[in-house]
Amino acid sequence: MKVLKKLLACSAAAVVSTAAVATELEVTHWWTSGGEAAAVAEFAKAFNDGGDTWVDGAIAGSGGVARPIIISRIIGGDPMGATQLNHGRQAEELVEAGLMLDLTDVAEKEGWRDLVNPVRLLDSCTLDGKVYCVPVNIHSPQWIWLSHAAYEKAGVPVPSNWDEFVASAPKLREAGIVPLAMGQQPWQTQLAFDTLMVAVGGQDLYVKILNGKDADAAGSAEAAKVFEAYANARALSDGSNVNDWNQATNMVITAKAGGQIMGDWAQGEFQVAKQVAGKDYTCLPGLGVNEVIATGGDAFYFPKSDDPEITAAQKRMASQMISKTVQVAFNLKKGSLPIRGDVDLSAANDCMKKGLKILASGAILPDGVNAFSADTQGQIQDLMVEFWNNKSITPEDAQKRYVAIISDAD
Ligand code: GAL
Repeated sequence: MKVLKKLLACSAAAVVSTAAVATELEVTHWWTSGGEAAAVAEFAKAFNDGGDTWVDGAIAGSGGVARPIIISRIIGGDPMGATQLNHGRQAEELVEAGLMLDLTDVAEKEGWRDLVNPVRLLDSCTLDGKVYCVPVNIHSPQWIWLSHAAYEKAGVPVPSNWDEFVASAPKLREAGIVPLAMGQQPWQTQLAFDTLMVAVGGQDLYVKILNGKDADAAGSAEAAKVFEAYANARALSDGSNVNDWNQATNMVITAKAGGQIMGDWAQGEFQVAKQVAGKDYTCLPGLGVNEVIATGGDAFYFPKSDDPEITAAQKRMASQMISKTVQVAFNLKKGSLPIRGDVDLSAANDCMKKGLKILASGAILPDGVNAFSADTQGQIQDLMVEFWNNKSITPEDAQKRYVAIISDAD
């Protein structure tokens, strides 16, 4: 285990009386873009300020790359001190195998059940009544981010919904701007599809397919419209030759692209670039059609250790992450919403305010990240990537294959 401990500089007498110990914990996560790095630095700062030492274990390449590395290290007996994952099913097997620290005592002492909002984020951390992770944010994937400079250059108003976005695309092309920036990581193609599903197909369709695993809904005329829109998006992204999601965001920031369908973590990139929501860029939840958000997000898990000092440090970190001040500092930089409602968000920007308003209104979708098993998720992503990269696959073909996946989904 890559965990070291060091005694704080203290006198011999103090060692005897207080045994003050600072603990180093290696923390793995996939937050390597500018905005993500700025946000995670707030967690590190809080841990270091408390006298412990945060050993940063950032893994480049997004969740799709990092997750298997994180999981195999834990299973393989080389656990880190703490790790980011999306809560819910991603850690299910690790928890069931007894490899993760039980945080129930901290959660009960600090009243997490009363303060986590929506409480289902805590439910996603809970198995058989025990809490195994600390939820740190609410992230929603259902957004489009639009560059004001790109639309100004093309001489058209900034769209206020998906249909206007599609209609304005030819003007962007004339101005040499790619309408839709799109990275190539598999999860990005799936995110765009699910987001179009909410916008074009509606909330009922999304819930039926993701929660109900309803193959009839997947084969319906409403779902056909989603595949049409997805084919449209594929054409609009011609010329977007980037891989990572934040490279695609950067195309929007630099007005090389009109927009990007991406989760609200994109906000962190605009902030690092000193762009202002509502002035330099616009964000539209639900693509401006159906204003809903999902309340997924990130959580930290702590692999079990038999060293009581490590366990104590892990609990300190969990407690800091959910504390009021750290919640505000972290989420303002991350572009996500805090998981507690009792914090001061006077510094929230335009996009965060939109998210908070939707959250308060209760227009909340079930979280897509937790809907399917890793296996089903992988099959959907394979299909979406193939569709995106092979224009000879028609929306009708793709829909048929999607129906087959949903019929067997778990
Ligand atoms: C998500 C994660 C976000 C985010 C994004 C891109 O899985 O929940 O926090 O930053 O990946 O890296």
